[in-house]
Formats: sequence, C-alpha cells, structure tokens
Amino acid sequence: SFVNGNEIFTAARQGHYAVGAFNTNNLEWTRAILKAAQEKNTPVLIQVSMGAAKYMGDYKLVKTLVEEEMRVMGITVPVVMHLDHGNYEAAKACIEAGYTSVMFDGHDLPFEENLAKTKEIVELAHAKGISVEAEVGSIGGEEDGIIGAGELADVEEAKQIAALGVDYLACGIGNIHGKYPENWQGLNFDRLKELADAIDTPLVLHGGSGIPQEQVVKAIKMGVSKVNINTECQLAFADATRKYVEAGKDLEGKGYDPRKLLAPGTQAIVDTVKEIIDWLGTPAVK
Ligand code: G3H
Ligand code: ZN
Repeated sequence: SFVNGNEIFTAARQGHYAVGAFNTNNLEWTRAILKAAQEKNTPVLIQVSMGAAKYMGDYKLVKTLVEEEMRVMGITVPVVMHLDHGNYEAAKACIEAGYTSVMFDGHDLPFEENLAKTKEIVELAHAKGISVEAEVGSIGGEEDGIIGAGELADVEEAKQIAALGVDYLACGIGNIHGKYPENWQGLNFDRLKELADAIDTPLVLHGGSGIPQEQVVKAIKMGVSKVNINTECQLAFADATRKYVEAGKDLEGKGYDPRKLLAPGTQAIVDTVKEIIDWLGTPAVK
C-alpha cells in the first residue's frame, strides 16, 4: 500500500541505511521497480518528474497506474508515490492527486522565495499527511553540452529550510544528474558532514547514478537516507534492448512483438534496482 515517506526515511537516517527513489517513465518501468522491491521485500519510492508525468499523461494517471499495478501484482512492501523536482504548481497538483510525497524544488528561486514557497507546500502537504522534500544548493548537470558542477548547499540556508519541517532535504554536495564527467572531483564529504551535523532531517542524494559505490556507502553512513536513481535504469534498459536487436532477435519468430522486444530491457531494470537496493543496505520489511 502507499505510505508517506516520513517514517521510512527517518528510520533510515537513524539506522544509517538508505531507501532508493527510482524514476518511472512508463508501464514497464513501473512494473520493474515494483517487482524488484517486492523480490527484495524492501520499501521503495517511485517518483515521477514533471516531464515524465506529461509524457505518460498527467499526475493522476501516474498515481493510478502505480496503484493499480500494485494491486494486480500483489505488492505488499510499502511504496511511496513521490513527485520528483516539482515546481510550485506541480507540487500542489500532486498533493491534490493523492501522492504520498512531493518534492518542491525551489533551488533556482531567490532563497527567501524558496523558503516562503517551501513553507506553503509543507503546510498544504502535512495537512493531508503527505511528506515533502525541499532543495538547497543545486545538483549539477548538463546544460548546452557543458556539465556544471552544481552549487554546494549553504549550511545556514539548509537549517532554515529544515526548520520548516520538511521531511527530507536534497542538497548539492558535488553530485550531478546524468553521467559524471571524467574529471569529476567526487562528493564533497566536508560539506556533507557540516550539513549532517547541523540538521537531523534525512538528506537526499540526487544524481545517484554513476557515483562509485564506496562514495555512496560513505554518504549514507554520514546522513544520506534517500538516493535518487534515474539514469542507471535508462542505461540498463537501453543496453539490454540494443543487445536484443543487435542479436537479430526481433527478426526471429515474433521477436518484434513489443511484449517480447521490451522484456530484456525491463528485466535489466529489475536487476539494476535490486543491485542498488543491496548497495543502499535497505533492510527487508518484517
Ligand atoms: O531526481 C532524480 C535523480 O536525481 C536522478 O539522477 O539520473 O543521475 O540517477 P540520475
Ligand atoms: Zn534529481
């Protein structure tokens, strides 16, 4: 059943483990993430970006799809239905649509405005028992072909945002969305320590794909409780699909049937999600 993220991630921070947050894009992604979590018997967070929700239909459709797949698949592990990197309107729409968790990402607003809008979203969401993720600093990523390093989260700003009662906080600590460049400097553990010492709020590591395992594990020990993964599943899906086509399997028998053509990629997502759950040390539910 759907649960909010508060208890799951508070327990994760106290227990020094993390719970994975995986982005969905369609039916196959949704099933693969749910299947992996059920096979590992661990809680999981399924998140949708504004772009992916638009691609699939709308926020309501995504929530209904996840919910109905859970019913059909007999999913028994706790699942958090989360909006990833939402703007103000999207966060409000998902609170209305019955998500159990929303991210309001106001990092590119002037800080006072990020603070004010986050406060509003926290009030609206908490009135309905919905958890909220906010962001300070920024996550690097590609823009016009140039990979930006992102801006480190300011500890004072993080304290002010945390004091609003946000349930988990995304902070820039040198992490980057998508693929990491060759000359990447690694996570900034000094800043992570300052943040973790300053606030008890579970911290979120965005851009989880492509960070060396030992850095992820170290960050989790220090206070990261939610790790966001998107690109890793996309690469696994693309790779398995390419192999299927390159081997000419789509030309054998009815290999072009989408139910066959998409199967290896879907299974690759299941395997990737299960492997990441192991990395994160998410304990099985009792
Ligand atoms: O919000 C989503 C994540 O931060 C995904 O990042 O695509 O680098 O795994 P990633
Ligand atoms: Zn992100």
